[in-house]
Amino acid sequence: MCGITGAVGLKDISNVLFDGIRNLEYRGYDSCGVALMNRNSIIVKKNVGGVGDVYQKENILRHSTHLGIAHTRWATHGQVTRNNTHPFLSCDKKFAVIHNGIISNYRDLKTRLQKEGHRFDSDTDTEVIPHLLEKFYQKTSDIEASFVQTLNLLEGTFALAFITHHQPDQIYCAKRESPLLLGIGDEVKFIGSDFNAFIDHTKNAVIIDDDEYAIVSKDGYTVKNFVTNQEVEKPITRIEWDSETSKKGGYPHYMLKEIYEQPQTVVKALEVEEKTLNRLVDMIHKSKSVQLVGVGTTYYVAMYANYIFSALAGRYIPAISSDEFVSLSPADKNSFVLAVSQSGETYDTLSALKHAKSKGAKTGAIVNVMGSSISRMVDCPVLQGSGPEICVISTKAALAQMILLTRTALKLGLKDKKLTQKAYNGFMKSLKSLPDIIEALLNERSGFIHRIAHQHRNVKNWLYLGRGVYYPIALESALKMKEVAYVHAEGMPCGFLKHGTLAMIDPDIYSIVFIPPNSEKVLYQATLASVEEIRARSGFVLGIHFDERNRNPDLFSEELILPPVPPVIAPLIQMVIAQLFAYFTATSLKRNVDKPRSLAKSVTVG
Ligand code: F6R
Repeated sequence: MCGITGAVGLKDISNVLFDGIRNLEYRGYDSCGVALMNRNSIIVKKNVGGVGDVYQKENILRHSTHLGIAHTRWATHGQVTRNNTHPFLSCDKKFAVIHNGIISNYRDLKTRLQKEGHRFDSDTDTEVIPHLLEKFYQKTSDIEASFVQTLNLLEGTFALAFITHHQPDQIYCAKRESPLLLGIGDEVKFIGSDFNAFIDHTKNAVIIDDDEYAIVSKDGYTVKNFVTNQEVEKPITRIEWDSETSKKGGYPHYMLKEIYEQPQTVVKALEVEEKTLNRLVDMIHKSKSVQLVGVGTTYYVAMYANYIFSALAGRYIPAISSDEFVSLSPADKNSFVLAVSQSGETYDTLSALKHAKSKGAKTGAIVNVMGSSISRMVDCPVLQGSGPEICVISTKAALAQMILLTRTALKLGLKDKKLTQKAYNGFMKSLKSLPDIIEALLNERSGFIHRIAHQHRNVKNWLYLGRGVYYPIALESALKMKEVAYVHAEGMPCGFLKHGTLAMIDPDIYSIVFIPPNSEKVLYQATLASVEEIRARSGFVLGIHFDERNRNPDLFSEELILPPVPPVIAPLIQMVIAQLFAYFTATSLKRNVDKPRSLAKSVTVG
């Protein structure tokens, strides 16, 4: 939801924090601020707006210092105002705090502190923290002890950091459920919500676990558990991602860059080691019941996998939206729950996994961010290796997850003798052809997709329709359109049309229909029948199909014709086309593509 970073060591820390916080902007971007250690005081500069704007407005770079912390916000408690922007100061201005997460008992704490005379400037939950630190320090004159006392009073989730004028060379930070890492450079140490906070400076990281706090200085760091008071030995994790892959590399937006990276993303997903997937297959194989969980795009990835497991492995594995998992409570000690998550930090998915564990279920995950909470909490993590996905909208990570789940289904099919070795080899060959096909399509078709997206940019309502495995593709593609272009788009199975929705069809309702290759005869015919139903009511249909030799202008209002491909990769290719369609609609409507409104990269609140 929010991004936090901090650095100690160099002289030009304002600059270092600027890079760090800008790299974290995808986590939140409605306001941002910094606290910089000065000889006589802590300087706090903050305002509403993106990082670049606020740095300029507040002239932050002119302050040179050796230590500071910074925060970029996605509002949860309190409006987007300067007063509600982090960092927050104690009354005596000796403590400055930044925080990601939610302090659920802040109302009680605030009332008590106000009674004791503490003055509050914001509506946020975070502001109780500097006041608690100040209060305990007045009694103990011991920063560390005051910190531990404060942490033990906080309920909820947090990754937080503070600096204090009483200890001007140290950053204090702690974590419970929200991600927090240290970056270990030679001359400079960092804290951050994720690797992107310091990836330009060091690839060595220390992952802070729940209930741990760290004291970080230029020359080192100490990590302790604030419940047990024990010091904790922490290994250094080497980050595989390089900082260049986190940059835009000439593309106007990260979304476009990440769409264009998909051929490589697929290659990476195909390179994930056999033994990692075999372990996952074994867990599925020996579990009586298996459920897939994800939310938003990853729920649609899970739905896709539901179809794929049925088709390729003859195994019914339902997909459940993470946020509904606890209500449905389908897991027990014979279950295996497989989560899908790009960030590995999504609150709803974490909650589903925790619930599954509490029922005795085994857990697994396909996850992109190494060292993330989900990757560490499950019994069987599979790292998808897609590299950083910076755009808030998920594209390449979702495709890689679909590839990995297809590989898993194929292996399970082979193991359970639902597939012959020959059939398995054939499917794998098709998957391996995907990177080149996507590459060619992106190069050859993006001009056409741009044209039709621009032409139809003012359409107010889209229906996205598909049957079978094309149905989750329709849902995911409609979500892309909604979240990046803010255009109403409804994903639906074709079969639903005649059960009510046809009443809506008229020349103002536009449909996109995902048509399977005609080798999938039954599905193909049934999908075309739905197109006929819409056309009979004068509805507009953009058909995305593979019938290169059969243009059908009588049936479709607009056709996007793709070269014939094997059925196992056909829906994936259509999904890539729909990503571009949403992207170009958004750019035609001048939307803020990489940071669309009301969505954050990792939704760490419930
Ligand atoms: C859509 C999107 C969200 C995420 C969802 C889950 O483009 O990005 O719907 O898919 O918030 O996030 P992760 O995959 O990080 O668990």
